[in-house]
This record gives sequence, structure tokens and C-alpha cells, in this order.
Amino acid sequence: MSNQWAVAGVDLHLDLDPALSRRGGLERALREAIRAGRLAPGARLPATRKLAVELGLARNTVAAAYDQLVAEGYLTARRGAGTQVAPLPRADPPATAATPLPPSPRHDLTPGSPDVSTFPTAAWLRATRRALTAAPASVHGYGDPRGRVELRTALAEYLGRTRGVRATPERIVVTSGYAQALALLASVVDGPVAMEDPGLPFHRDVVARAGRPVVPLPVDDRGATTPADVAAAVVTPAHQYPTGVPLHPSRRHALTAWARESGGLLVEDDYDGEFRYDRRPLGAVQGTAPDHVVYAGSASKTLGPGVRLGWLVLPPRWLDPVVDAKLHADHHTEVVGQLALADLIGTHAYDRHIRGCRQRYRHRRDQLVQRLDDLGIPAHGVSAGLHALVEHPDETAVLARAAARGLALSGLRPHWHDPDHAARQGIVVGYATPAEHAYRAALDALARTLTT
Ligand SMILES: Cc1ncc(COP(=O)(O)O)c(C=O)c1O
Repeated sequence: MSNQWAVAGVDLHLDLDPALSRRGGLERALREAIRAGRLAPGARLPATRKLAVELGLARNTVAAAYDQLVAEGYLTARRGAGTQVAPLPRADPPATAATPLPPSPRHDLTPGSPDVSTFPTAAWLRATRRALTAAPASVHGYGDPRGRVELRTALAEYLGRTRGVRATPERIVVTSGYAQALALLASVVDGPVAMEDPGLPFHRDVVARAGRPVVPLPVDDRGATTPADVAAAVVTPAHQYPTGVPLHPSRRHALTAWARESGGLLVEDDYDGEFRYDRRPLGAVQGTAPDHVVYAGSASKTLGPGVRLGWLVLPPRWLDPVVDAKLHADHHTEVVGQLALADLIGTHAYDRHIRGCRQRYRHRRDQLVQRLDDLGIPAHGVSAGLHALVEHPDETAVLARAAARGLALSGLRPHWHDPDHAARQGIVVGYATPAEHAYRAALDALARTLTT
């Protein structure tokens, strides 16, 4: 038997074990709810008559169960105050995690995140309020698997204006971040997927879990090379992750020629394309071959990974398969965030936020480069993005010294498809990650780690 009842206006689900007597079942269910904290100290229980009606039990049964739990110390009963959960219920020992969580680092220079303390909370709140006030109730129903048309329309304009992407709202699919976008793409291609070597190991796992073999796509000082015998290739042209190399014009041409001639799908992961500092802006490759390149973007670097909003601009022949995969993955992405982002883009608050971030990160980049320069250490891939590559012959030793100082860093080695035969070693420094006030101390810790 199971039932649901309300304590101080809060619904509580109780499972009454049919193997026990009614009284025994109710006692056990109440004990477990108190032990698990689902019934908090001080919570007032319903009157015996009321609970008896709700649970379909005799009033005496409920009264006897309450008496028993009062005797055991789980409940208190005072005239006028009714029956309440005792103030200090006996607590089970706290559950110990199978793997203890690592302590959070004192300094964090791992790549992959912007400074999330700069999230534009006030602007986001205003955008959400405006968007929800204007939206019809139907936005809370099931909708288009491609996502809200408001966001797709805003993105088509924004991506065309800022990244040279050729997009129409019809060809955009909003996803739960790039991670889902990549999983959807991997699920619709028929064959191996070439991924940059070095590249982000997590994304290789995403593709492999979608059931596609992953093959290395070598990267050199001109960026990704051209693949062969694969169904798709995934590249980061604006700022190769993690080397930071921009894709050379000859390679851009070679990759789009490959996609045109082989019918392969070229995926452009433009994860940090908004952040460029002192080189000419590089438009998206998609703008030169919109029928052969999928453009992928994300709010993870501009707003924060917690937003979990990404987008694909798809060539016509890939649109239906991806929309179908998205529908079957989760119907569509959560709507309120989409509406807020559409408003943020439409009012240009998004542009303003990015401009502010770009200035801050450029300054941080300059400080990092200067600091390393003083130590005679070159920083690679620093003309754009939010990370730098610092080569070092003994990455393991650097990471161990960093850990001892409470400095979180990411090594280059795991980025290689075969980490045991890493062509180069080093550290990928995510200089956008710390909050502004913590950046200088993080740089000090990095400098000491690299020199001692
Ligand atoms: C290479 C690369 N692509 C894309 C992303 C964005 O991924 P998501 O939108 O799933 O957060 C990241 C984030 O760290 C990244 O490093």
C-alpha cells in the first residue's frame, strides 16, 4: 500500500509495506521518512483522524503508531501542539561517498570555463522576465525539436553578423550544449569520425559512446590536416583545442574540398570564436561552404557551461536526421533559457557582455604572457580564446608540483589519442577560469610551479 499526504502543506509519499501489519507498516514508513530527513525536525504531523482518512486506516491504528514513535523518541506529543517530529531525531551516520571528492583547489587554471562570476545575472533576469511576460502559455508545452523560433531567429542574425555564418532559423537546431550537438551528429553519420589529435578527450568519448569509431586527425602548426576514409571530421578552426593554432587558409580550403568531394560531414566546433585579441578576425569556415559544413556553437564560453545551450547550423541534407535524433533524445531543449538568451541577443546585451569579457580576458592573457616571458617560457596559441599552451618536457612533474600547491592545471598528454606516445607534453592553462580577484595569486602559483 502506498499513499501521499501533506505535512505543513508539503506532500509526502509513504510506502506502507504490505508484508507488515497496518500499524507496523505505518511506523516503519514514518521512521524511515524521519531518518532520511524527508520529515524534518519540528514538522507537524496531521491529526490522527485526518491521517487515518487519508491512508484508509482506522484512527486507533494511526494513534498507536504515533504513540510507538513518541516512545522511541522520533516524535513528540504535547497537548495543544499536536504531534511533531522530535527536534533532534536520531541521525543515521552520514553516507560516505565511495570515492571521496577531491578538495576544491586553492587556485584553478584548468581550461574549459570562462570566469563564471561574471555571469550577467541582472541582464539575464531582465531578459527572462521580459521573455516570459510576453510568451504565450503554449511555450510550456511540447514544441519544435529544433528549439524556440525566437532563439533560432536571434542566432541566425547574430552568427551571420559576428561569425560570417550563413544561417536561417529553419536550419538551426538548439541543443543542450555542444556535447549533445556532437552526440546527435555522431548518431546520424554512418562510419568513422576523424577527431583532432590532440583534442578534447571528452568529445572523443561522446562520439565513441554514440557508437562511432574515432580516428585521429593529426594537427600541425597550420591546424588540422585533411581526413581520409571517414564519414565525418570534427575540427576547431578558429582556435584549435588545445594547441590554439588557427586553421591555415590552405587547410580551410582543403577541408571544405574534402567534404564536397567525399560527401563527408565537416563539423566546425566554434567553441571560443568570440574571443580574439590581436589577430584579424577569422570568419567561420561554414560561411564558405554552408552546404557541406555543420557550424556548432555554445554559450559555455560566453555565459557559462551551466547554461547548457548550444546550437547547430545544418546543411539541408543533415537537417531532418539531426532533428529526428534530437526529438528522440529529449523532445527539445528547455525553453525558458532559450527565450532568455533570445532576448539577450536581441537587445544586444549579449554583445555588450561579450565585449566586456573580451577586454578582461585580453588583459589576463597579456599578464600571463608577460609573466611567462619574464621566466623565458613561451606561451602558444594566445592570439585568441581562453587558454594557452605551455610546453614542458616533464608534464607529470609539473602537475605534481601544482597539486602540492593547490593549483589545478590540465596536462596536454590526455589530449593525445595515444597518451603513451604523446608527441609533445605541456600544460593547457585556462586563464579565464578564476574570478578576477583570484587571478593574480593563481598566476603567482603557476610561475612558482613552472620554475621550481
Ligand atoms: C573544444 C570545445 N568545444 C566545445 C566546448 C563547449 O562544450 P559544451 O557546450 O558542451 O559545454 C568546449 C567546452 O569546454 C570545448 O573545450
